[in-house]
Amino acid sequence: MVIKFEKLSFSYGTVDVLRDVTLEIKRGEYIGVIGPNGGGKTTALKLMLGFLSPKKGIVSMGVPPTKIGYVPQMNAYDKEFPISVLEVVSTGSLSKLKWWGGLPAEEKGRAKKLLKDLGCLGLEGRLFGHLSGGQAQKVLIARALMCDPEILLLDEPTANIDAESEQAIFAYLKTLQGKKTLLIVTHNFDAILKNVERVLCFQQKVSSMKPRDVCKHFTLGMYHG
Ligand SMILES: Nc1ncnc2c1ncn2[C@@H]1O[C@H](COP(=O)(O)OP(=O)(O)OP(=O)(O)O)[C@@H](O)[C@H]1O
Ligand SMILES: [Mg+2]
Repeated sequence: MVIKFEKLSFSYGTVDVLRDVTLEIKRGEYIGVIGPNGGGKTTALKLMLGFLSPKKGIVSMGVPPTKIGYVPQMNAYDKEFPISVLEVVSTGSLSKLKWWGGLPAEEKGRAKKLLKDLGCLGLEGRLFGHLSGGQAQKVLIARALMCDPEILLLDEPTANIDAESEQAIFAYLKTLQGKKTLLIVTHNFDAILKNVERVLCFQQKVSSMKPRDVCKHFTLGMYHG
């Protein structure tokens, strides 16, 4: 098992988010994470990353934190912050920085290769804040891949972006299937039902199902027990 929750409970103060959750994810699985707003999806990823600690129960990860790539759920950010695309991707391998703060040429080469693979060639010098939503998401995926992760956690990487960028992202993730353990949080059922091997639905509790067994009500946003 590369990710394991045992009888895990978590709350923010008095807000119960996860209650007595047990789950197991095998190395190389491609998992879709679904559930209503506030169901605990982002919280579960943060528990896997060690950003949060469970109130009860255990989180066990089969790889060190440096081998986990993370694409956070998009938040509002300063569109004029002076950082280039190449610099954003480079922040994915801070451990490789030289003592004077420069990145080795080899790492810069890897950053460019990842941008190319994700269809972002030529964006290196652009201001990150001036990218389109789809371009920004692809750049954040490249950043998450810089540490050559064994586990890649993606929190709604295709929210609010055009259909073409979304397809490109799912097509790229397909190329990683089997090589990395992939968890993608999304509200896009079309894409996950076609792509993933297993679905975890978070609503305080977690249920695991095959994509073909996901209830039609869920795909309409009507979650039930
Ligand atoms: N830092 C925080 N402090 C207090 N409550 C929080 C905090 N972060 C999240 N919550 C609450 O915890 C619950 C679960 O939030 P979480 O972000 O895990 O949901 P989610 O399943 O990712 O939802 P969404 O689909 O909207 O992204 C929600 O009720 C949310 O309001
Ligand atoms: Mg979330």
